[in-house]
Amino acid sequence: MNEIEQRIVELNKLLHEYGHAYYVLDKPVVADSVYDQLLHELIALEEANPSLIYPDSPTQRVGGAVVEGFKKVTHDYPMLSLSNAFNEEDLREFDRKVRQAIGDNFSYVCELKIDGLAISLKYENGVFVQGATRGDGVVGEDITANLKTIRAIPLRLKEPLTIEVRGEAYMPKKSFEKLNTLRAENGEELFANPRNAAAGSLRQLDPKIAASRQLSTFIYAIGGDGEAYGIDGHAEMLDYLEGLGFPSNKERQRCSTIEDVLAFIEKWTENRPNLAYEIDGIVIKVDRYAQQDELGYTAKSPRWAIAYKFPAEEVVTTLFDIDLTVGRTGVVTPTAILSPVQVAGTTVQRASLHNEDLIRDKDIRLGDTVIIRKAGDIIPQVVGVILEQRPEDSVPYVMPENCPVCESELIRIEGEVALRCVNPACFAQVAESIKYFVSRNAMNIDGLGDKVVEQLLRADLIHDVSDLYHLTVEQLVELERMGEKSAANLVNAIQASKENSMERLLIGLGIRHVGEKAAKIVSEEFGTMEAVMAATEEQLVAIHEIGDKMASSLVEYFSNEDARAVIGRLAEVGVNMTYKGKKIEVAVGDNPFAGKTIVLTGKLEQLTRNEAKAKIEELGGIVTGSVSKKTDLVIAGADAGSKLTKAEQLGIEVWNEDGLIEQLNLVQ
Ligand code: IVH
Repeated sequence: MNEIEQRIVELNKLLHEYGHAYYVLDKPVVADSVYDQLLHELIALEEANPSLIYPDSPTQRVGGAVVEGFKKVTHDYPMLSLSNAFNEEDLREFDRKVRQAIGDNFSYVCELKIDGLAISLKYENGVFVQGATRGDGVVGEDITANLKTIRAIPLRLKEPLTIEVRGEAYMPKKSFEKLNTLRAENGEELFANPRNAAAGSLRQLDPKIAASRQLSTFIYAIGGDGEAYGIDGHAEMLDYLEGLGFPSNKERQRCSTIEDVLAFIEKWTENRPNLAYEIDGIVIKVDRYAQQDELGYTAKSPRWAIAYKFPAEEVVTTLFDIDLTVGRTGVVTPTAILSPVQVAGTTVQRASLHNEDLIRDKDIRLGDTVIIRKAGDIIPQVVGVILEQRPEDSVPYVMPENCPVCESELIRIEGEVALRCVNPACFAQVAESIKYFVSRNAMNIDGLGDKVVEQLLRADLIHDVSDLYHLTVEQLVELERMGEKSAANLVNAIQASKENSMERLLIGLGIRHVGEKAAKIVSEEFGTMEAVMAATEEQLVAIHEIGDKMASSLVEYFSNEDARAVIGRLAEVGVNMTYKGKKIEVAVGDNPFAGKTIVLTGKLEQLTRNEAKAKIEELGGIVTGSVSKKTDLVIAGADAGSKLTKAEQLGIEVWNEDGLIEQLNLVQ
């Protein structure tokens, strides 16, 4: 092994270890920045040496190529489900039957029933090779590429074992809330609960989507015979799986009587809101394999286990109004205003109705008596209407045709469920976009709360974000409830934000589809605002992790005169327009690839596509997928088709593979 190979192996090992400590054990051993630094080092080494990318490299978690569809996989052993218990009586009945069959000398293991979707993971010689959904229990779908992006799933085990394990993939509550907030801002349909969000993420053909969704996993079973691994029961198996590097849920408990089981259920019925993830019940399993075997199976489920399901708490209340709010992107969101009621531990007086379709589908009307439930026990939802209690004079609810804030006509954009106000001068949109600009993840200006932003706009002191930088203490003290000291602090905070690294500004502009991560990547890649503004869609999509939607959204945003003018004014007042983080180093020099936009097409025989791409990029070239006027050079391998024809039509320079190799040899 040469030095580079050694370093790559070492980085793989370190990153596996640190990732396991962070994502599985929940006990980080190094700072995030150290992890990121090592990961970037590995990415750079792998880009330069694509043949040394191990299939289980931690870099492979970002989501590989888009798949065309999901292959069907037949499970080696059927993935059974559990029979359900809905109350104490069901549980006592289960316990009686167990005791009848195996006597009293046994114990149960009680576990949380994670509300996600069942998955099977296969390892060969310790390496993760296939992940599948449960499907109908016999045949599932191969979602390996998506599962690889879940950090808690080990890509390599601590021992080179061939084993299949099963568990639950889920979306933590926090990630779910973040995802839905983002989708609401983008006018996209919301996920009803974390389970749907997890399932929706794993059913995407583009693994980058799953990678962006922050899913996690708990493993709770071995597929097949646990005894083959020298284990005698469920509890021991969970310890064994942990030892191999799998995440298991710690909140499990051995219970020897049904009374203990009931107490465990009671404890978690109460504690459920404090968990970071959703559970929908408690699973109760007879521990020892020998006793499980004695009890056996029905056609669908084991007789040695049962799932107690929590009742979904539903309450009834009156909907007396529908409030309409206009967001930063102009999306109009209806919210039900309710007579306050207690649901699953909190008082609920508002529930999002999401969009017009939902109101129409459920025929929700003002004055209706409605059933409220907390979706996944967090977000209040209107489940339905009690028609018997509908007032006689009620009429169907119609959304207004005009913006509730600026009165301009509302538009329903094709393919979107949301109604939108498209007046860029709408007070609500302007206010929301300024609030977003100053928010913590964007320009992070302390002391500029929502109310102050609205006051400033009403007082005509600001019209867009660039005006913030002209504000003086004298102007601010005139505002209601603003003292001399707070005014001075605020001016300082605003001025200090000028020094932010450019990605904060890029986030703050609130460009659709461009979140924190994309803003950082784009800033890192282009270095200055000027360069980002001049970037073409092709240059943008050529960046790893920047998709078509983001690229076109960026280009569209920067083609808008008003947006450019605001950025111009921000630059004039001295807001920093450069990226201050670590630069990615690209060897740009005197070679025929530097700064050129290059397309690879046809079959290459001496190099793989990825190797050629990596070499060109190493020399400062940009490799893109499609030929256009902006393409400088096309490398055409054997059987090149339409891209070659197009290049010829456009008069673009074309080389064959030999030409490419020759030039690469000349510069290396
Ligand atoms: S054991 C042989 N344990 O609930 C049955 N299942 O119908 C193996 N689930 O399909 C399942 N948490 O998706 C088991 N701790 C847990 C679980 C769990 C969630 C899901 C699983 C299964 C369904 C039960």
